[in-house]
Amino acid sequence: MSERMTAHALKGAKGHTPLVWITAYDYTQAQLAEEAGVDVILVGDSVGTTVMGYTSTIPVTLDHMVYHATLVRRGAPNTMMVVDLPFLTYTNAQDALKHAGRIMQDTLADAVKLEGGRRVLDAVESLVRHDIPVVGHLGLTPQSVHRLGGYRVQARTRDSIKDLLEDARALTNAGICALVLEGIPDRVAAFVTQEISVPTIGIGAGNQTDGQVLVFHDCVGLSPHLPKFAKPFADARTAILTGLGQYREAVQARTFPDDDHSYHITDKEWQAFWSDITHRSPSPS
Ligand code: KIV
Repeated sequence: MSERMTAHALKGAKGHTPLVWITAYDYTQAQLAEEAGVDVILVGDSVGTTVMGYTSTIPVTLDHMVYHATLVRRGAPNTMMVVDLPFLTYTNAQDALKHAGRIMQDTLADAVKLEGGRRVLDAVESLVRHDIPVVGHLGLTPQSVHRLGGYRVQARTRDSIKDLLEDARALTNAGICALVLEGIPDRVAAFVTQEISVPTIGIGAGNQTDGQVLVFHDCVGLSPHLPKFAKPFADARTAILTGLGQYREAVQARTFPDDDHSYHITDKEWQAFWSDITHRSPSPS
């Protein structure tokens, strides 16, 4: 069992073996992620779409995040856990501190993540000043889906690349311990990675970042539809559907449960019971 990574160690892990991050939302997923040896588990507000069935992350609340993060912490006590601050919980420094403080204390998270650049700098600085490790998130930031006009690749023009770079530098100077780069061209992500001193974690950002993160359901093939950047490394959906279909057939055919999967009592005990209640013998078995 390897040691749980700290925010301090994460910050220093730039330029070494690429960091492996995965999202998880419950005890079982967290156990699997820890057993697989990932570096960091992200309890993402993508729980809203993957688990809760919403079409965006906007309905996700702080209570939802706290609930899911406590399940994950129990399943993966030895893995660094980063928890998302959900929509509108960090619009000013005071709110950010109160809400991130609750996540840290109630879930035993190792760090929080929030979306945005210079516009959330006050919040980031306040958290870092009060010893709460912060992960930044730039590029396609799902909580801004309405402003972005959909889930579109970002930083494709010279001005928007400069903007992203300034945001990345400002967040780094504010003391973040890592930066998630989502949905941006590979060359842009590679350049930002060279320009800042903290690890970049890519999702839909090419393979030159300091690490990668995938949504659990996309990674193991549970999602019915995949974004272009996501590769399923297992086919859990087919495996589960096959198993459920075989279960249905076996129940309908009365081949499940068979003798091996049933409990038994001795003939003697059964005969005794039978004659007690019917005052007859022998029993029909
Ligand atoms: O919520 C989430 O899962 C995320 C990742 C996609 C980076 O923020």
